[in-house]
Amino acid sequence: MRHPRAPERSELDPIEIASRDEIEALQLARLKWSLSHAYENVPHYRQLFDERGVHPEDLRSLSDLAQFPFTTKEDLRRNYPFGMFAVPREQVVRIHASSGTTGKPTVVGYTRNDLDTWAEVVARSIRAAGGRPGDIIHVCYGYGLFTGGLGLHYGAERLGMTVVPMSGGMTERQVQLIRDFCPQVIAVTPSYMLAIGDEFERQGIDPRTSSLEIGIFGAEPWTEAMRREIEERFDMQALDIYGLSEVIGPGVAQECIETKDGLHVWEDHFYPEIIDPATGEVLPEGELGELVFTSLTKEAFPVIRYRTRDLTRLLPGTARSMRRMQKITGRTDDMLIIRGVNLFPSQIEELLSEDPRLSMHYLLEVRRKNHLDDLTVLVEARPDAADEASRAAAARELAHHIKGRIGLTANVQVVEPGRIERSLGKAKRIVDLRPKD
Ligand code: DLL
Repeated sequence: MRHPRAPERSELDPIEIASRDEIEALQLARLKWSLSHAYENVPHYRQLFDERGVHPEDLRSLSDLAQFPFTTKEDLRRNYPFGMFAVPREQVVRIHASSGTTGKPTVVGYTRNDLDTWAEVVARSIRAAGGRPGDIIHVCYGYGLFTGGLGLHYGAERLGMTVVPMSGGMTERQVQLIRDFCPQVIAVTPSYMLAIGDEFERQGIDPRTSSLEIGIFGAEPWTEAMRREIEERFDMQALDIYGLSEVIGPGVAQECIETKDGLHVWEDHFYPEIIDPATGEVLPEGELGELVFTSLTKEAFPVIRYRTRDLTRLLPGTARSMRRMQKITGRTDDMLIIRGVNLFPSQIEELLSEDPRLSMHYLLEVRRKNHLDDLTVLVEARPDAADEASRAAAARELAHHIKGRIGLTANVQVVEPGRIERSLGKAKRIVDLRPKD
């Protein structure tokens, strides 16, 4: 049976339900533009294409994209902060940033047209999730350099919703305003949604009695089991939204309320490929591999074959003609997502290297306490700083730097030399004790 919140076909952008031929013709034309735009305006791409002996004119069909080189987070880091911009900096009207693999964040930029595109794809995503013009949306994704808050915010305004720009934290107040304003829609990380559920219960209120009907959850991996728990506890529909700053932010792909069978990639703006992460070879539809995106319309920050490191597979369209990606099943690198904040062990390592009291023997332990991720950093003191007072001072300072530079509250324990088990092969840096489903 059709869900009462599913949009009518007449409400959709025509391209969402166009034929595959139409979609592919549009993609080919836009891909040609995007490759030339990057080649003409970003020295990094020009040099890389030249080295590879490829030119934007070599692209005659969509499959020719496979001849072009990949882009990685490392390329973005080398061109920090604005070296990947394809327009004069004055035309960049907004900057966002996400975690880099070191202390330097990954910086992305948007022209006015890019912000317009972004609002469009997020509006389309919210509508696919069952949100409607006139609804109230409570946005708990962080506002600021993270793309979550402002991304959902402008998309919701574009759709014609009333936006409550809450941002994260102050859980008691989140509950109060959900009760007072009665939003139909909430946009939040799935783990924080469960913490909000706990707060409802702590206040003696059954979350099922809240006004919430639709939740738009993403920014971190979550499972079908978590979906069932949220839907059951809140008596609501839980939909998956995917995106990454480098590609635009949230709104790259979205699950539809009609089918809830994976996320439709908004293929008119973002061209997906799945590759074998070891060989770089493009894999056929249906096979599991690393997701790679090429932007088709972005002006300020075009990305060509950007390796997301996320693992998934591409599937044919269902509720829309655009292809689906399965829920993200993991990553090819060691990035952790803790309370929605991306963290690479190398970022912690960099901080350790700055303190002469601390060694490089460390371990990151992640647990889930009351539905929220909890990070413990265990690090060995150097032998000449192993007394209790030095260890305690070093721990306090490291926790301060992790908070100040990465934005995470961590429990830091500086232990005696030799306490952390040495590995025989690859160092084991992460112990992830969070439930898998
Ligand atoms: O997390 C953008 C976003 C905001 C998406 C709000 C959805 C909602 P970044 O901080 O650049 O951007 O992190 C991107 O987060 O490569 C994935 O590993 C992970 N991620 C994002 N959405 C999902 C999801 C935002 N629905 C990285 N499921 C991505 C699993 C997700 N992982």
